[in-house]
Amino acid sequence: AMVEKQGFKHFMLKEIHEQPGVVRASLDAYFNPAESTESPINLGLPADLYNDLEQIQILACGTSWHAALIGKYLIEQLAEISTQVHYASEYRYAPSPVTANTLIIGVTQSGETADTLAALTMEKERRQGREPKYQARLLGITNRPESSLGHLVPHVISTLAGIEIGVAATKTFTAQLMAFYALALDLAARRQTVSKDTLDKIINGLRQIPKEIEATLESQERLTEQLAHEFAETQDFIFVGRGINFPIALEGALKLKEISYIHAEGYPAGEMKHGPIALLDAKVPVVAIAIPGSVYEKVISNAQEAKARDSRLIGVTPVNDGEAAEIFNDLLPISHVEELLSPILTVVPLQLLAYHIAARRGLDVDQPRNLAKSVTVE
Ligand code: G6P
Repeated sequence: AMVEKQGFKHFMLKEIHEQPGVVRASLDAYFNPAESTESPINLGLPADLYNDLEQIQILACGTSWHAALIGKYLIEQLAEISTQVHYASEYRYAPSPVTANTLIIGVTQSGETADTLAALTMEKERRQGREPKYQARLLGITNRPESSLGHLVPHVISTLAGIEIGVAATKTFTAQLMAFYALALDLAARRQTVSKDTLDKIINGLRQIPKEIEATLESQERLTEQLAHEFAETQDFIFVGRGINFPIALEGALKLKEISYIHAEGYPAGEMKHGPIALLDAKVPVVAIAIPGSVYEKVISNAQEAKARDSRLIGVTPVNDGEAAEIFNDLLPISHVEELLSPILTVVPLQLLAYHIAARRGLDVDQPRNLAKSVTVE
């Protein structure tokens, strides 16, 4: 079927606005209704994929790699399974030693990224003929189960973003995050690393996310557009976050680079002092993701250090947060949300900021130069 822009100026903007629906579809598909007596999570994966699991290796590229980093955080913190995330293009030529009882997850929106497919194939082949515990347990996370990835791996979690046209991934990223929340919770439930109460609380929190994204979209659309006007000539941007929001800093920087061609870097806020702080001055704005929780005060104090170097500070932080409001020059407020669930919300203002800066600069947002929707060459 022809996909249309439905009144939006670009596909990317339409796809950003489709994210509440993507989260709803994922909730419906991956979780059983609250009143159900069965396990709350339903990914349709066989138990032997999970049995005696000792390690997880995740292979991906680009935005999918960022989703994988959040997946690692969730799996390690909730299910207590040691997890590594690799760029597929690197892993192919320098794989980790073969370990027993290891789940290997390939994450690719398109299901066609050459490096990701090659890394998975290599992993499968080098484990063939070894004892059962060394055999590859392969799982794919993809928006296109009919893709080459779908043929390569025996098990798939289908992400439910629908077709994405904009080259810069937005709703497919959110859909990948939802797959990782479901997977981490499924593992945690089976291994009983979190209590039933905690599990229910997290799932209830996820159910609130669609309307929180809607509220964020509503309040941010004008704010980010106005802010974008002030950065049309900016040459460098820094994005910082910590913990579960560090990968969102990476993703915010990647979105800006991809479509606005502005140099941007994402950094874990605590690492700023080990180099990048030397770049800061009044010409380099810093976007800080500051969500109450385990690293909130740390991020705020890292942001203060940037402000002391005259950087303009933009805060992605909950609405009506007194402390944050005083530090930041500009606010991109989101709803109050648990830190564990916050990445699904904090990414939205960063997508909008990148979009509006690129649109303001008159660039071809949906078809940025030098980039392709899926990279089928090495
Ligand atoms: C290309 C796209 C990126 C995407 C990456 C991985 O570089 O421009 O937006 O994140 O490929 O794509 P995949 O389909 O494997 O998720």
